[in-house]
Amino acid sequence: MTKKRFALVTGGSRGIGKAICMALARDHQLNILLNYRSNDQAAQLVKQEIEALNLSCDLLKFDVANASEVSEMLSAWKTENKESSIEVLVNNAGISDDGLFIFMSKDSWNSVLETSLQGFYNVTQSVLKDMLRARNGRIINMVSLSGLKGNAGQVNYSAAKGAVIAATKALAQEIGKRKVTVNAVAPGFINTEMTEDFDAEKYKQLIPLNRFGDPEEVASLVSFLASDRSSYITGEVININGGLYS
Ligand SMILES: NC(=O)c1ccc[n+]([C@@H]2O[C@H](COP(=O)([O-])OP(=O)(O)OC[C@H]3O[C@@H](n4cnc5c(N)ncnc54)[C@H](OP(=O)(O)O)[C@@H]3O)[C@@H](O)[C@H]2O)c1
Repeated sequence: MTKKRFALVTGGSRGIGKAICMALARDHQLNILLNYRSNDQAAQLVKQEIEALNLSCDLLKFDVANASEVSEMLSAWKTENKESSIEVLVNNAGISDDGLFIFMSKDSWNSVLETSLQGFYNVTQSVLKDMLRARNGRIINMVSLSGLKGNAGQVNYSAAKGAVIAATKALAQEIGKRKVTVNAVAPGFINTEMTEDFDAEKYKQLIPLNRFGDPEEVASLVSFLASDRSSYITGEVININGGLYS
């Protein structure tokens, strides 16, 4: 029996994650395993949109930072779905909690690192063995321009994303022989709830393309990295920022 092919997208209910779920379903006929943390209504809406494409969308509500929750939920899903395989993992869930480092609380530091970095560890650990066994898999990590150049007011976020960039490069070297690729996508300013309070007019002046990007534009790059067309790309960080930084 042919296996039912899934993509696991963390933080898939809104913003960039939602656009990625839609693109992977539409472009690759992948069923979607959609992780989110709290917004049930948003997750249900994406599920309906995926099902309208005649594909499955299973909702997995867990906090990527919580190791036991991640491993229990994913093990239970695998047990119930023995005829399915996770071929693509997009580690997209992330939060920001901006402020000057001198005033940054330990909570603010920890929550941002735990979501991006610990989240990467928890979720990737849960799916990697199966990918290695299958000698097939794509891991795509959503990082940020802040993780490459550093950004004032975002020391926690820059540290978290910078660490995931380094992990991407190291893991790619470990597992390349097994035909599993690991890449990172580094967006600049993208129109989502994360940036809705930003002064767009001020920042737009810094961006050569003179606008914020849309989630669908990031999703289209992720879709390429998830495809066979990207088979010789691994350990890379690909910028998508309207020319802001290169
Ligand atoms: N927007 C930008 O300009 C920009 C730029 C560079 C990089 N990024 C990165 O792109 C990714 C997506 O950003 P976005 O702007 O689309 O964010 P967003 O609109 O705030 O959406 C965040 C998504 O992540 C989920 N989430 C948050 N914390 C989670 C956790 N602990 N466990 C599981 N799910 C969690 C949310 O689920 P609930 O709604 O259920 O809480 C939601 O689906 C992030 O990694 C972000 O750092 C964004």
